[in-house]
Amino acid sequence: MSMRFLITGGLGFIGSNFIRYLLNKNKDARVTILDKISQGANLDNLQGIDDENYIFIKGDICDSKSIKSLIENVDAVINFAAETHVDRSIADPWPFFKSNVEGALTLLEVIRNSNKSIRFIQIGTDESYGEIKEGSFIENNMLKPSSPYSASKASADMFCIAYHNTYDLDVTVTRCTNNFGPFQFLEKFIPKVIVRAYLDLKVPIYGSGSNIRDWIYVNDHCEAICKVLEKGRAGHIYNIASGNELENIKVAENILRLMNKPKSLIEFVEDRPGHDLRYSLDSSKIRSELGWKPKYKFQEAMEETVNWYLSNEHWWKKLLDEKNIHQTPWKLHQ
Ligand SMILES: NC(=O)c1ccc[n+]([C@@H]2O[C@H](COP(=O)([O-])OP(=O)(O)OC[C@H]3O[C@@H](n4cnc5c(N)ncnc54)[C@H](O)[C@@H]3O)[C@@H](O)[C@H]2O)c1
Repeated sequence: MSMRFLITGGLGFIGSNFIRYLLNKNKDARVTILDKISQGANLDNLQGIDDENYIFIKGDICDSKSIKSLIENVDAVINFAAETHVDRSIADPWPFFKSNVEGALTLLEVIRNSNKSIRFIQIGTDESYGEIKEGSFIENNMLKPSSPYSASKASADMFCIAYHNTYDLDVTVTRCTNNFGPFQFLEKFIPKVIVRAYLDLKVPIYGSGSNIRDWIYVNDHCEAICKVLEKGRAGHIYNIASGNELENIKVAENILRLMNKPKSLIEFVEDRPGHDLRYSLDSSKIRSELGWKPKYKFQEAMEETVNWYLSNEHWWKKLLDEKNIHQTPWKLHQ
């Protein structure tokens, strides 16, 4: 029998890429998407996916009544749903607590009370570990989140592991580094650099641009999630990383070079509070245990990504008009 999925947050960047990846790999998969249509959501992210392959339901993961009916007919729940913009979490943490903590807990509670055997994958982030000056975090390192966003994500991970330990739920947590690729919301670093450079607007970089992030192409992340879904152990956490550690300034300069735009577009702006200097994950566990490794080379994937935004102007122009992107709460980068 084909597997039936509830994919929460499926209208967002990674969720929509995951649905496309999953349906390409497994044409028989049956997908129900639940999304509240919050900031990062976009129905146009499902473009190119045959609408016979999924059902979309607008709803909130905090609404236990709807979740209860939705999980009646699913084998697995993959929780991508979250408020995800760190700057927004600094301006107002409550929506982050609500969706990221209460939402995850609601899903766990409904599954526990259903007495069904449902596989639950929680999509977590490297930001939960906090910054690391040297070396890389392994899965059982202490969590030291710095922002309200990462605190909410760390908290959800802990509920997930607790639900496995206490109620024996079939729950696995993934923690991935920074993703890039098509369909990423324009508030995020890489699409922001591409679109602003295209429009010849200043490209804002926090502080001196020396913060280091480890970048992974979104399809590599999607493949890792599939491996975890198939073979990941319940009650376990899997770090996912490609090992492309780069300073933000280097990433921005690379994009400007690919677009033939001048470096003078870069504008250093006041750093955000609690800005972690470096994230780094050791992903040996998923590589050795589940046989995953990244397929995409950073530079090729970055070129593909830049080209995607340049040839999909209709996608991002509509967002600029509809979502007031330049009005991000922490800084106005006009
Ligand atoms: N983008 C990254 O680099 C990255 C890295 C590691 C982990 N993650 C995690 O991956 C997941 C997806 O991230 P993304 O970058 O695609 O974010 P995104 O903001 O593009 O998408 C999140 C989606 O969740 C939906 N959502 C938010 N609250 C909801 C709620 N209460 N009920 C239902 N839907 C809700 C939003 O409408 C949106 O469509 C998040 O959990 C994030 O923490 C992201």
